[in-house]
Amino acid sequence: MALTLSPRARLRGALRLPGDKSLSHRAALFAALAHGTSCFENFSAAADCASTLACLSALGVRSEREGARVRVHGAGPEALRAPAGDLDCGNSGSSLRMLAGLLAARPWRSTLTGDASLLRRPVERVAVPLRAMGARLSSADGRPPLAIEGGPLRGLDYAAPVASAQVKSAVLLAGLQAQGTTRVSEPAASRDHTERLLPAFGVPVTRAHLSVSIEGGARLRPLQWSIPGDVSSAAFLVVAALLLPDAHVRVDDVLLNPGRTAFLDVLRAMGARLRVEPRASEPEPVGSIEACSSRLHGVHVPVELVPALIDEVPALAVAACAAEGEFTLAGAAELRVKESDRLAALAEGLGRMGAEIEERPDGLCVRGGRRLRGAPVRAHGDHRIAMALAVAALQAEGDTQLDDPDCVAVSFPGFFDVLRAATA
Ligand code: S3P
Repeated sequence: MALTLSPRARLRGALRLPGDKSLSHRAALFAALAHGTSCFENFSAAADCASTLACLSALGVRSEREGARVRVHGAGPEALRAPAGDLDCGNSGSSLRMLAGLLAARPWRSTLTGDASLLRRPVERVAVPLRAMGARLSSADGRPPLAIEGGPLRGLDYAAPVASAQVKSAVLLAGLQAQGTTRVSEPAASRDHTERLLPAFGVPVTRAHLSVSIEGGARLRPLQWSIPGDVSSAAFLVVAALLLPDAHVRVDDVLLNPGRTAFLDVLRAMGARLRVEPRASEPEPVGSIEACSSRLHGVHVPVELVPALIDEVPALAVAACAAEGEFTLAGAAELRVKESDRLAALAEGLGRMGAEIEERPDGLCVRGGRRLRGAPVRAHGDHRIAMALAVAALQAEGDTQLDDPDCVAVSFPGFFDVLRAATA
């Protein structure tokens, strides 16, 4: 059912957010391979991470959730069992691609599938290196369902054509179970959570500029960890605080990995009043972000920052609409194969609200500075598009009707409650 969103002037709050989605996926997957029980506090509330846990359960890995605490009982890769049916990854590309790496070494057949959006997303990017390691994979014309017949793997030296942390992580998950060394090099740095977390599970990782390698056969030990808050969820609240006239928000215990916080650098360059305070750094940097009402101006986003802000483009596009002057983004064609075609969805939604936004083959150009007006808008079933349009609606003139508010549950089920409480 559609949700009507009214403009707001005020946004206040000191918040803690559920655990980061990228970290929670990896925590669950690595814990499943470990010998013993891992315990995670502040595990993500995202439906995507529930998909990972459900697939692991279908593979014989027991886990329990008590509020935000998740325990995963791992017994090593050999204890995984062939699933009785297809593994449903729902909307989650991370689940599907990373599980493909985990399953490539298992000596049976499994099939990874998902919802209509996931069935449109490319999977050959993981199938190609996993085949080169010795697994048999077949996709449906490059898209899921992805059938995997696993078996003994050999290490691989893989130069990935795209900067994708999911691909890198899939190859490393296979490499953990392969004979010899597996090395992945990337054309640009993608998020490095896998490299940071594997050592916490007892696996030595060798890192060099744009490459990472591991040895096959390492034994993972379980981990106890409180997962930092989701910085991609925080991005929407930060942008909302910058745009509203009476706003101040602080997000505590949030992930501050530099591979995820480039949106803050761009916002700062746009004139945002932000304060970032790191508190701890092992195994992942964590701290607080404060943001308050700001006057923004457009910038050209440096193309080398794109992998480190790829999930924050929807939030940045909304900031760009409020910023004086021109904002441009290029080198972001990957956005066309996310949960929706995000360049098209942003141009459509913000365009309907009166923004001067031009969709380019690999980016966006926004001429900002005029007030948006409320309008009926479509999320295209994409959680980040829904949250971006909801933030845009807060500073528009008149009401906005968002067609599919429930899709925010994919990453941030409490989004509208948090927003309501902060803008009350
Ligand atoms: C993710 C990697 C990125 C990102 C996605 C989460 C991850 O995707 O967009 O939301 O956790 O590794 P790609 O690997 O396709 O770039």
